[in-house]
Parts: sequence; C-alpha cells; structure tokens
Amino acid sequence: MKLAKAQILVTGASGRLGKELVSLLEAEGAKVATPSSHVWDITKKAQPFIWYWVPKLIIHCAAYTDVPGAEKDKNTAIQVNIVGTCNVAKFAKVCNAKLVYISSDYVTCPPLGVYAFTKLAGESFVGPKDMIIRTSFKSRGTWGPEALAKVFHPVYTNADWTDIIAKKIVKAIKKDLTGVVSVGTKRKTLKDLALQEFKGVGEISVETADTLLGYHYPRDCCMEITI
Ligand SMILES: NC(=O)c1ccc[n+]([C@@H]2O[C@H](COP(=O)([O-])OP(=O)(O)OC[C@H]3O[C@@H](n4cnc5c(N)ncnc54)[C@H](OP(=O)(O)O)[C@@H]3O)[C@@H](O)[C@H]2O)c1
Repeated sequence: MKLAKAQILVTGASGRLGKELVSLLEAEGAKVATPSSHVWDITKKAQPFIWYWVPKLIIHCAAYTDVPGAEKDKNTAIQVNIVGTCNVAKFAKVCNAKLVYISSDYVTCPPLGVYAFTKLAGESFVGPKDMIIRTSFKSRGTWGPEALAKVFHPVYTNADWTDIIAKKIVKAIKKDLTGVVSVGTKRKTLKDLALQEFKGVGEISVETADTLLGYHYPRDCCMEITI
C-alpha cells in the first residue's frame, strides 16, 4: 500500500504503539486521523463522528491493556477488547477500509488469561483481506535505576522496543500483507532485552509473577516471525 496521501485512521493513537505508528505514517506523507476515546469511545459507538472522512486503512491499536487488571475487571476488558473491536471492524466494513488489528503474542500462549482471551476474541472480527498483527513490545526506559529494577525470569519472547516493532508494522502494511502476521525480533529472554538498557537489572522468578499478578504469566510466547 502506498502511504503517501493515504487516509488512515488510528485508534489508540495516544498509546505507546499508536504514537510511534502515527509519527512513522505522517513521515511517509499519510493523512492520519487519531480520534481519542473521548471523540470515539469504541465501546459505545460503531463509528467516530468523522464518518464523512473515509479512511482506506484503519489501524486498531486501542485496547484495555492492563493485563493483571483484566483478571479483576473482566467486563471492561470484554467491552473494550471484544465489543470495541467489533465496532471498529463494522466501521472498517462500512468504509470498505482494510483493517489492521493489533493483537498480542499472548494469544499463542495457553493457558490464556482474561486479557489474552479478549485479544484472541477480537481476532474473530477480522476479515480475510485484513491483517492481524501478533506482537509484543516494551517502552524504552522500562528498566533502569529510576524505573523497574527487576525483570520476570525466565520468560522467552520475540518482543522488542516499541519503535523497532512500529517500523516492522509499517513495513507489513506497505507490503499489503493479509491474515496473521507475527511481528517481532529473535527469540530471547525478557532479561536479555532489559539488559540492553540496564546492566544492573535483577530477576524475579516467573513463578512469583503468577502470585504477584494473579494470572499464569506466559513463559514462552515465541512465534515463527513473519516480519
Ligand atoms: N504493550 C504491550 O506490550 C503489548 C503487547 C502486545 C500487544 N499489545 C497491543 O498493542 C496495542 C497498543 O497497546 P499500547 O500498549 O500501545 O496501548 P496503551 O499505551 O495502553 O494505550 C491504549 C490506547 O487505547 C485507547 N483506548 C482505551 N479504551 C478505549 C475506548 N473505550 N475507546 C477508544 N480508545 C480507547 C486509549 O485511548 P485514550 O488515551 O484516548 O483513552 C489509548 O490510546 C493494543 O491493542 C494492545 O493490546 C500491546
């Protein structure tokens, strides 16, 4: 897909991934609409107020992303991640726009917690010409002397920093990929990723994570990477 002058709507544009994607898309010359949840609460309405502005691509980043929170507040996770995604998919159909749904590597990693279950359910609204991105990313600065001092270990992942993953997603969009697209970098432990920025990072056992967070912390979500 040519991005120059393309009309693209990004949900969740204020989020970690959304911000990176919007700046990359704008740098490519795309015309990007970024309705916040105040303008378009995806749980309540099947379309944003800007319905007359017809996007040719919708990148659906908006989600309830508090993984431990979803275990306690299932209803909000279901509303945002399932009902909300259904509404976004309906709007994409009305616009005849391609839908790029940002899913999660957690959907590949049973037993699924509530968050992972809702992300997997969201995939069911994606059509055959659309794209499901299964991925994982961390903000730079997550670990450090002024940030998190420890990392859950051992946890295997294809996750990388948000800016690196966002560039790969834009590449997948430009290549016009469809279906399930697994986006990430080589298999590593989460600790390997943390060590890139913080040499002094400590460990918390993954079994402790289960108790601390209240769900089975995924030990190994590595995928066969598409891009
Ligand atoms: N973070 C990760 O490690 C990770 C891993 C795998 C997959 N993902 C997926 O990647 C996507 C982006 O994640 P992120 O970490 O960048 O998200 P984030 O920083 O937590 O931001 C969430 C975004 O969702 C929007 N949102 C929440 N409820 C909404 C509603 N009812 N209506 C409209 N918008 C709503 C928020 O908008 P407002 O600010 O306007 O409220 C915000 O922009 C999500 O689909 C997530 O499931 C994340």
